[in-house]
Amino acid sequence: MELYGKKVKLRAIEESDLEMLRSMKNDPWTEEMVVGWCPPISTAMQKKWFDSISLDNNKMLFVIETKEEGAVGYTCLINIDWKNRKANGGIMIKNKRNMSKGIATDTYMTILRYAFMELNLNRINGSILDYNKASQHVLLDKVGYHREGVQRQAIYKNGQYHDLIMIGILKEDYMKKIDETGYWKRPIDGAHEFLGGGTPQ
Ligand SMILES: CC(C)(COP(=O)(O)OP(=O)(O)OC[C@H]1O[C@@H](n2cnc3c(N)ncnc32)[C@H](O)[C@@H]1OP(=O)(O)O)[C@@H](O)C(=O)NCCC(=O)NCCS
Repeated sequence: MELYGKKVKLRAIEESDLEMLRSMKNDPWTEEMVVGWCPPISTAMQKKWFDSISLDNNKMLFVIETKEEGAVGYTCLINIDWKNRKANGGIMIKNKRNMSKGIATDTYMTILRYAFMELNLNRINGSILDYNKASQHVLLDKVGYHREGVQRQAIYKNGQYHDLIMIGILKEDYMKKIDETGYWKRPIDGAHEFLGGGTPQ
């Protein structure tokens, strides 16, 4: 099933997306902002990764699309723990010109709705570098994650250790957030356009 937010569509990764994903992961600024790290990714490595993802039931990966720009990024639920009903979430947006347009916020509201209301998960974990202020603003202030602790000097980048802020959101936090903000009650313009006028819910 493809997922529809107000601005975004979340769909499966196609082979034709691999170059876009590879260039995002190879981008030095993105690497500075995300918690993980990777060596330079070749076309062959990217293809091998693509071939492996459909075999993993504990991962769900999506390309983020907007009507105006097409594919603009990538989001995921990984380390899905079906017994304890939890997972980790992640996101990358391509090109700074696509940022601060509400794409990440809508992507999170959409993927969390899927995680809690369809997959029946109860908790999504995350972690953010102490200097990644945009991500903290999106997840803690806008989406409703809670700050749960700090791992001191957990990540080494750019010649120094950085603290890692541990965050999490429960299904009950999300339900409270959408109730308080009326997030899904407002007109879902983008989704209407994607669906040719249909109702996404
Ligand atoms: C973090 C990221 C996903 C945000 O995506 P986005 O689509 O720009 O997010 P949104 O537009 O929904 O919201 C961004 C918010 O952060 C604010 N913001 C942007 N830069 C900021 C900064 N340096 N400090 C504080 N707030 C900032 C924006 O003004 C906006 O808030 P507002 O809507 O209240 O004005 C994107 O910057 C990105 O892909 N970064 C690289 C990868 C990454 O950091 N991934 C997450 C790892 S935890």
